[in-house]
Amino acid sequence: MFTPKLIAALALLALATGANAEGPRLGKTISAEELAAWDSSVMPDGNGLPEGSGTAAQGAQIFAQKCVTCHGEKGVGGSASALLPRGPITSINGGEKTIGNFWPYASTLFDYIRRAMPWQQPKSLTSNEVYALTAYLLALNKVIDEGAGLDAATLAKIKMPNRDGLIIRFPDRI
Ligand code: HEC
Repeated sequence: MFTPKLIAALALLALATGANAEGPRLGKTISAEELAAWDSSVMPDGNGLPEGSGTAAQGAQIFAQKCVTCHGEKGVGGSASALLPRGPITSINGGEKTIGNFWPYASTLFDYIRRAMPWQQPKSLTSNEVYALTAYLLALNKVIDEGAGLDAATLAKIKMPNRDGLIIRFPDRI
């Protein structure tokens, strides 16, 4: 009745039950401070924007130090994505989509720069630097005036040129 195979199976079952009793040991509970460093998402309505501010003129200087090597002078001609539109979007070709002609929310620009740029050193910019860079790129894209500054309140009010231009590809799936 108790064949070697059955005994082996029962032994495995006992082991597995023992391991479960101790829990899967996936880690420890994260503290509020640790979580805050990663909880950096900014919503389209501006929810999640930090304190701070910056002007397009300040952004131009930071761009020259930390961004121009990859994105080119004034966001054109670099090896990385162009940051200025070359014209309206005429096809599904991703290369035509840039901040001014595609991105629907300014908050996404802030969020993206803060979490991902500069490419080789993400999360290294201060909130003031990110506001300044966002202002600079929006001014270059003629979304805000060159002399304008940005903070949480003003950034949340910006309406991007393509906000109403996006269509839902599969409306029946939402
Ligand atoms: C070492 C090269 C490098 C540096 C320096 C760099 N970037 Fe980038 N950046 C990239 C690459 C590569 C992409 C495309 C990433 C992708 O598509 O996943 C990109 C994408 C972007 C985009 C999105 C463009 C779009 O429309 O999709 C923005 C905005 C941007 N970078 C801003 C900045 C800013 C601001 C700085 C300076 C603080 C900076 N980058 C510095 C390489 C760089």
